[in-house]
Amino acid sequence: MTDQELVKKALAMHQFSYVPYSGFPVGAALLTQEGRVFTGCNVENAAYGSTICAERTAIVKAVSEGCREGWEAIAIAGKGEDFCWPCGACRQMLYEFAPDLRVLAARGDGQYIALRLSELLPHGFGPKSLE
Ligand code: THU
Repeated sequence: MTDQELVKKALAMHQFSYVPYSGFPVGAALLTQEGRVFTGCNVENAAYGSTICAERTAIVKAVSEGCREGWEAIAIAGKGEDFCWPCGACRQMLYEFAPDLRVLAARGDGQYIALRLSELLPHGFGPKSLE
């Protein structure tokens, strides 16, 4: 799967975003080395802090299906002209399973910037920190 195709899958998740409060849909698509793709969207809540981001939806879908390893890339797509970077909580959640994951931060027209998670969360705290 190409990066562009992964970004497309993230954008397609906007249709399922539940965003009555922010009006800002975010989609995510997590690709594994086996070629599996776990998608996610943001799901907001009247108690705002209970909102879950698109990335964490995708992460939890993967882990709850028994897929914890071999994560290759995640595409994150917002709407509008700004690239959609993962929030701090999502960076931390991703770091747990794939500290050097490729991250594709996309905007509404499908343009994206590719970086490594290790660049977005340098010196992160992860499972190794507890050994
Ligand atoms: N959001 C995500 O889904 N992922 C992020 O990494 C940043 C923020 C969502 C949460 C909320 O529904 C909306 O964007 C506005 O913050």
